[in-house]
Amino acid sequence: MKLIAINGSPRKNWNTATLLNKALEGAASQGAEIELINLYDLKYRGCISCFACKRKDGQHGKCAMKDDLTNILERLETADAIIFGSPIYYMNITAGMTALLERLLYSHSIYSSEIPTIYPKKIQTGFIYTMNATEKYIEESGYKLSLKPHQDFITRMLGKPVELLYSYDTYQFSNYEKYESSIFSEEAKAKQKSEQFPVDCQKAFDMGVRFATNA
Ligand SMILES: Cc1cc2nc3c(=O)[nH]c(=O)nc-3n(C[C@H](O)[C@H](O)[C@H](O)COP(=O)(O)O)c2cc1C
Repeated sequence: MKLIAINGSPRKNWNTATLLNKALEGAASQGAEIELINLYDLKYRGCISCFACKRKDGQHGKCAMKDDLTNILERLETADAIIFGSPIYYMNITAGMTALLERLLYSHSIYSSEIPTIYPKKIQTGFIYTMNATEKYIEESGYKLSLKPHQDFITRMLGKPVELLYSYDTYQFSNYEKYESSIFSEEAKAKQKSEQFPVDCQKAFDMGVRFATNA
């Protein structure tokens, strides 16, 4: 069983990456082969609407763009499960993660009512989100609705319902004193980091275990 995690944060050692690494650790504890891809190490663009993947005489399921994502898209097809991870930027996933999903999902989608997806297999997927906002704010604001479209497309294109994990109220700066951040209480952030973040890490670990054992 192979699990690939994709980090859509530009930061390689912060909240999103930590949770993804926990999920990989969980999967590895069950003997899974694991890999982490840091999107912000790569140079690539989102879909350019060339429609090569839709041509009747073309290569369905293959994105024709040639850049650092070409090889990654091929590697993703070898995975039995994929966990996406993204910080919330302006109420949505990051630009890097959006561009990856455009390339991955659109190249495997087909404009036919009978078969919406030509992904080679049905795989388990997860999405881990990290954000500054508190759980209370997220629930009361209806914020989660902005995340539903990509969740629905992942489920539809990759074949199984995407599992979700939200990590709220994350610790954002290495030193709050150095940054203008007076709307936050560093004390409350530190409490969340020491009390809730480990719980979120355990949930991520459990997701990895579940994916490895269910595959
Ligand atoms: C450009 C930018 C936009 C952000 N927008 C939001 C937002 O709309 N809502 C929110 O709760 N947090 C927002 N944040 C905070 C991040 O989502 C949060 O710090 C996240 O945990 C960062 O993930 P990382 O530690 O893995 O890099 C934003 C951060 C940046 C840099």
